Amino acid sequence: MSQDPLKPEFWKEYARKGKEPADSRFLSPDFWDRLSESYDELEEDPFYQQMVEEVISAMRQRGALSPEARVFDVCCGPGNYAVRFAPHVKEVVGLDVSPKMLALFEERMKEAGFNNYRLIKADWFSYEPEERFDTVFVSMSPILHDLDSVDRLLGLAERFLVLVHWAGVRENLLQQRLVREVLGMEMRWKKAGIIVPFNYLYTLGYPGDLRFFCGYWRRKRPVEKELEHLLWRLEGQGVEVSSAQREKFLALLQKEADPYGNVVSQTRVRIGMVMVEVGGPCARQGPPETSSKP
Ligand SMILES: C[S@@+](CC[C@H](N)C(=O)[O-])C[C@H]1O[C@@H](n2cnc3c(N)ncnc32)[C@H](O)[C@@H]1O
Repeated sequence: MSQDPLKPEFWKEYARKGKEPADSRFLSPDFWDRLSESYDELEEDPFYQQMVEEVISAMRQRGALSPEARVFDVCCGPGNYAVRFAPHVKEVVGLDVSPKMLALFEERMKEAGFNNYRLIKADWFSYEPEERFDTVFVSMSPILHDLDSVDRLLGLAERFLVLVHWAGVRENLLQQRLVREVLGMEMRWKKAGIIVPFNYLYTLGYPGDLRFFCGYWRRKRPVEKELEHLLWRLEGQGVEVSSAQREKFLALLQKEADPYGNVVSQTRVRIGMVMVEVGGPCARQGPPETSSKP
């Protein structure tokens, strides 16, 4: 293993070692189809909305979103970003493995009256690209745990690569307490997140603008929905829950619920954004040198 953190191999090895067997579960379309049922709740949270708006605004300021730009939103989910890209760009192409996420994406675009989009239903890991894009964007996807994916994303980006990902904090005190009580274990969250692709890109010669968003996601939802979300998160971590344990979770959540059967749950999050101008003067392959000779 390379011992030198200024070498890309160091970060490749670091990322490989951090991979857990449970990570493969994130690749199943069914796993993501289930998340799609509650994903729109995020849009009701003011901190989340503000974060998304700030990402869009930073991208516009740098020129990553412009009327001529074609943008590739990889692992686009239900289009929370894409629907905000659409009014500022020529075309948005969304790729996702989950049919339900893509159906929501399409619904939102149609509702908003945009038709400058295309959808690709594919698993990123087997997708064979036939085109390049001005801006390549990925947000909150497990593909970012894999630095070979970052190589492929870079290869598709003509001007900008923008990554949004967890940045080490994802803390839901209610979920943590319930998991401790029912399963006698701690809810794990050990991922280094965005800082790994940031360092990797830096060592490749692409220093990115790095920015963090810290705040709380607050969601109010019926007990059953909160339970499904908790079980989904545990499944993602490779934790099996028996039906007796499920019943215990349900009983505890019912105790937390308000008279209307809703549970308020709050997650403290830190999320990072890295924006790389692939062909800019800072990048490895900057513009050609001009000669001072006449
Ligand atoms: C947490 S959601 C993020 C959605 C969206 N990018 C956003 O930030 O709102 C992760 C998305 O990645 C998709 N995904 C996960 N692994 C994938 C893969 N291997 N290929 C394509 N899509 C994948 C899921 O279906 C899901 O829609």
